[in-house]
Amino acid sequence: MPSSSIEFLLNNEVITINDLDINTTVLEYLRNYKNLKGTKEGCASGDCGACTAVLAEVKNNKLKYKSINTCITLLYTLHSKQLLTVEHIESKYLHPVQQSMVDNDGSQCGFCTPGFVMSMYAMHKKKINPTDLNINRYLSGNLCRCTGYRVIKDALKNLKKYKTLNSESSKIIKKLKKIKLNDVTIKNKNSKFFIHQNLKNLKKDFIKSNNPSLLVGGTDLSLEITKKRKNLEEIFYLGQNKDLNFIKVKQNNMHIGSATPINDILSILKKYYPEFYEMFERYGSEQIRNVASLGGNIGSASPIGDSLPVLIALDTKLILEGNKSRKVSMSDYFISYRKTKLKKKEFIKEIIIPLKSKKNILKCYKISKRIDDDISSVFMAINTEIKNKKFKSIKIVCGGMSAIPKIANKTETFLKNKIINFNNISKAKIIISKEFSPLSDVRSSNNYRKKIISNLLDRFWNEYNNNKVTLYDY
Ligand SMILES: Cc1cc2nc3c(=O)[nH]c(=O)nc-3n(C[C@H](O)[C@H](O)[C@H](O)COP(=O)(O)OP(=O)(O)OC[C@H]3O[C@@H](n4cnc5c(N)ncnc54)[C@H](O)[C@@H]3O)c2cc1C
Ligand code: FES
Ligand code: FES
Repeated sequence: MPSSSIEFLLNNEVITINDLDINTTVLEYLRNYKNLKGTKEGCASGDCGACTAVLAEVKNNKLKYKSINTCITLLYTLHSKQLLTVEHIESKYLHPVQQSMVDNDGSQCGFCTPGFVMSMYAMHKKKINPTDLNINRYLSGNLCRCTGYRVIKDALKNLKKYKTLNSESSKIIKKLKKIKLNDVTIKNKNSKFFIHQNLKNLKKDFIKSNNPSLLVGGTDLSLEITKKRKNLEEIFYLGQNKDLNFIKVKQNNMHIGSATPINDILSILKKYYPEFYEMFERYGSEQIRNVASLGGNIGSASPIGDSLPVLIALDTKLILEGNKSRKVSMSDYFISYRKTKLKKKEFIKEIIIPLKSKKNILKCYKISKRIDDDISSVFMAINTEIKNKKFKSIKIVCGGMSAIPKIANKTETFLKNKIINFNNISKAKIIISKEFSPLSDVRSSNNYRKKIISNLLDRFWNEYNNNKVTLYDY
């Protein structure tokens, strides 16, 4: 029998709850029901970091910490976790990250400060070395409009001066282990929130549902609630389903469970597809990567979803589950704007990416206005084998150029078996700029998109000639 409520730790307090609306966010809960107003609301869309708190989960008998945006995290996803808020981290004295912020003048109006402090706290708990690269990564989801970032970064760099406080981890692990990890069904008025531990139980309830919404990180779905003011009726949270949370390499393929958080796949991805890994360094922010999944990126079917062109270029297959299980190729999966081959009572179970041959060159070019936490204007993935200076095989897939992520068929056909030289690249640039009729929107104009997509072929040509251009040059 599934439990009818969730249980979690709010700082050190055990909470059992089932009486709030299933659409309640963690931020609403903290501020409106627990009077914990240190956690702020800035944007309610995961962009500013003012609402950052930290989650702790037991993994291999240790606590694993991650920062999250509470504004887009739904309350009932907290089952079996500890939620740490800014009110908790100071006891008799300020916590070292807070003291360091004070000593380094890291705050002015203070609105963003609790969010920064919690991102810094997550970094401190994970014992991350405060190099510039790591600081930029961990603070990528926090915005400050008045202090400026140098002093905030100094606060992290100078953290080693302060004595670390005694850890309470063994007590917390004990408390969290007491919470039963079974299925949960919350029934509230006419709505339902499901948590399943395995695929079999998920399928049973999912097939019977009327109006289901699949939820993993909620970094897309929750905006339906916070921005479009929708009330979701039946939410299936996949984040605790063991059969959907994994990454493994078997024979010549990488298999990724659709609900596995991006940050949990990065170390393996780095080994097999370093260029794909590098792209994820620019995917959302630390808070977003901590919870967002590949299944959610594919499920959103946005024409500017960053992983989609790369997965198509790598010839990825999806395992879809429902009444029956079936395998589809990602290159056939997207039909029209946000329409896919996924049927009503189906979900994505697994993503299968063929391991790249050593002979192949993979390129993942993301063009956006900001380095961090920004959606692409244009994306290009290239997967090619060049033999005897000729394109033996070539896949070019573009994002932001059409209603779906799209293969540049004409450009591929032109380049296949052609010699790679300035002349052929110049001709390919003209073909690719005519191959698409992109929209003009807030991110960029139609002309800009066409210009950029053809210039990316120049970039490829430059890199091929070893004039390596780093992602920071764009
Ligand atoms: C601040 C911010 C920055 C972002 N930056 C980027 C970025 O740089 N690049 C980028 O591509 N995206 C970005 N996004 C969008 C989003 O983070 C990604 O699309 C992410 O991968 C979604 O994953 P999720 O687990 O949070 O999905 P959710 O929000 O949980 O779900 C998204 C959609 O997919 C469906 N879904 C989830 N799981 C499945 C499944 N197993 N089968 C079928 N459907 C499913 C859901 O029902 C929902 O419709 C950003 C979002 C925010 C808020
Ligand atoms: S309020 Fe801006 S990220 Fe949550
Ligand atoms: S201190 Fe004012 S927004 Fe950062």
